[in-house]
Order: sequence, then structure tokens, then C-alpha cells
Amino acid sequence: MEGTGLNQGVYPIDRFEQMRTPFYCYDMDLLHDTIKEIKQLTEGYPYVVHYALKANANPRLLKEMASRGLGADLVSGGELSAALAAGFVPNKMAFSGVGKADWEIRLGLEHEIGCFNVESVPELENINDIAGEMGKTAHVAIRVNPDIDAHTHRYVTTGTAENKFGVSKEMLPDVVTLAHDMPNIHLSGLHFHIGSQITQMEPFIMLCDSINELQSYFEMYDVHFETINVGGGLGIDYNHPDRHLMPDFEHYFGVFKKHLNLRSGQELHFELGRSLVAQCGSLITRVLYVKENRDKKFVILDAGMTDLIRPALYEAHHLIQNITSASNECETYDVVGPVCESSDVFAHNCQLPTTRRGDFIALRSVGAYGESMASTYNMRRLPGSVFLP
Ligand code: LLP
Repeated sequence: MEGTGLNQGVYPIDRFEQMRTPFYCYDMDLLHDTIKEIKQLTEGYPYVVHYALKANANPRLLKEMASRGLGADLVSGGELSAALAAGFVPNKMAFSGVGKADWEIRLGLEHEIGCFNVESVPELENINDIAGEMGKTAHVAIRVNPDIDAHTHRYVTTGTAENKFGVSKEMLPDVVTLAHDMPNIHLSGLHFHIGSQITQMEPFIMLCDSINELQSYFEMYDVHFETINVGGGLGIDYNHPDRHLMPDFEHYFGVFKKHLNLRSGQELHFELGRSLVAQCGSLITRVLYVKENRDKKFVILDAGMTDLIRPALYEAHHLIQNITSASNECETYDVVGPVCESSDVFAHNCQLPTTRRGDFIALRSVGAYGESMASTYNMRRLPGSVFLP
């Protein structure tokens, strides 16, 4: 049973006793197994898997990804520098984002990164100008907004017409023509990313259909692309992390193998973030106080929304486990953080074994968008990290 403390023993509590809480705890064996699974499933196919650094840019995790040959999906100059420091090879880097600043474009060109995923005409013109000044050619993919609803939280859906991302399909032919005519641009492909935490395969199948249609359309005009990039977005099981330590990668890659008509010599690029790292990480925190009000009990943790903002920002659910309590009795608590915001709540009405001051609590599935979204609001300290084994 999850959420009742029966998972105790998995975590090295003795080691934790020496640590300042809260901290992120990463299971490196699981990370290695996850990368291995992806490598096995893509072997023999012209697939290139990029890791989306935004999910977690902890230098130790980045080194693991880079040393196992993954590419990097970047959204800022800071991520580009972190990727270089971790040893990712520049020609396997793709730089996305609707608002790349000039210095970020220059940095990418200086290091001759594999691709800029371009989101608008003004951006394309700017990249062409900067590349011209630097005497470089920018390799570019146009990000297409395919107008597909990914059926996920509205804050993490990106591929519908009302989102700020990409170029609409109607405008695409003109943008492609424009790119071909620019002297310092090499148009290598099309890029898509329809959203995040997508747990059904239908949106990905619709994406494949949409790409097939676009490719056929462009072929009528003798326009061919070297790469197709389908972004990331594969979701994970936040309710039962131990049952699903990895998402069903076989099913996911199977969708593209079956439904996407890649042309000969064409590469298919992926940008996986959450699905690679989410289940590897837990946020380990201690109970500061157990407080009773008229008809509620609160467990007050030393971790707050500054260390894991997903529940406050997206009403996201993360499994909460008391990893020290030996009690057989369960009680109902609101589990909250210490930050001065009413939204600093990890869970309402959460069943936990009787919990006391000093107990260790694990917030699960925090490897993605936990550490990378941490802040120092309230002048709090950023948590450290521990790597198991
Ligand atoms: N590629 C692009 C262009 C993206 O915008 C994203 C994520 C990814 C790849 C990686 O997507 P993933 O495989 O991780 O779903 N902070 C939110 C998630 C925001 C995702 C933003 N874009 C959360 O905590 O749920």
C-alpha cells in the first residue's frame, strides 16, 4: 500500500538523519534503467532523444544524460551553458522558446548548436541577421502549432491555436518559403510540442497524422525536411509511482513507429523531460509541527511551495509518504508548507499513519519540475540534493 508508510526501509533513514532538510533525493539506478530502456527501444531507428533540461538541470543528472549520449533540449542561455558544462555535444542541442534574446542566439551560434526551434517570423529574421553578422549559418526548425488538444492541465497544453507557441499550419508555407530565401538560415526541419503530462496516446497519434499530412503537402512543392521533432510531453503516474516507475515507453515509441511516415534519410527527434526524470526524485522533508484546529489536523513540513511549486501552481498531486512512522493507525491531515501563502498546501485530507514532529516525509515523483522550479521566496534556502545508492 502506498501513502501509508509501508515503504519505509527503501530510504536510508540513518543517512537522512545527518542531512539538513528539505533535500531532493535521486535514485540513480532508476535513472540509468530509464535511459537504458529508451536506448533499447530506439536502437535501430533514426531516432535522436534529447533531454529537456527544464525538467531538471541538476549537474549530476545532466552528466548522466550527456555521458549516455542523449541530446539536449534548451530554452535559455543558462541551460545552454549548463549543457555545455555537462558535456552534451553542441550538434545534438536544440534551442526552443518563443523569446530568445540576442545574446542567447549569439551563444548558440558561437557553439554551432544543432538547431534553433524557431517560433515566429520576427525571430527567424533576427536569427538570420545575427548569423549574418557572425558569418555563420543557423540551422533552424520551424515550430508548428498543430492545433491539437493534449487533454492535460491548461497551464501545460501548448499545441492549440490559443497558445503562444509556434506558427499556425495556415502560415507555415509562407514561413518555410521565407526561411529558404534567407541567406544565413539552413532550414532543416519541423518542430512540434503539444503539451506536457500527456497520459493518453491519442494526441500523439493525431500529431503523427498531422505531420504526415504536412509532409505530403510540402512534397508536392518539392520541399523536404531532414528532421522532424515531436517534442516531449509523455506523462507519468503521480498516483502510483512504485507501480509505474517508468511510463510505458514501448507504447509511446510504438505510436511513432506505427503512425509516423518518416521519409528515407529523415531523423525523428524527441525532447523528453518529465518521463526521464520525474520518478527518480523525491523531496525529503521533516515534520516541524502537527497542529490541530477546530475540525482539522495539519502536518506542517519544513518543505514548502518554494521547493515544489507544482501543487500550488497546477493543483498537482504528489504522493506523500511518512517514511519513519511505525504507527498502524491512519489519520487525516492537511499537509502544508511553512511559506506565508494560503496556496502553500501539498495535499488536503491526506491519509497518513499517525504523524509526529521530526518524522521524515517523502513527496514522490519530484524529479521533474521540482528542483528546477525552486525559488528562494520568503528568503528561504534552496534545498540540497542526495544521490542514491
Ligand atoms: N520540448 C518543449 C518545446 C517543451 O516546451 C517542453 C516542456 C518539453 C520539450 C518537455 O516536456 P515534458 O517531456 O517534460 O513534458 N512545469 C510544468 C511542465 C511544463 C512543461 C513545459 N515544456 C509541470 O510541472 O508540469
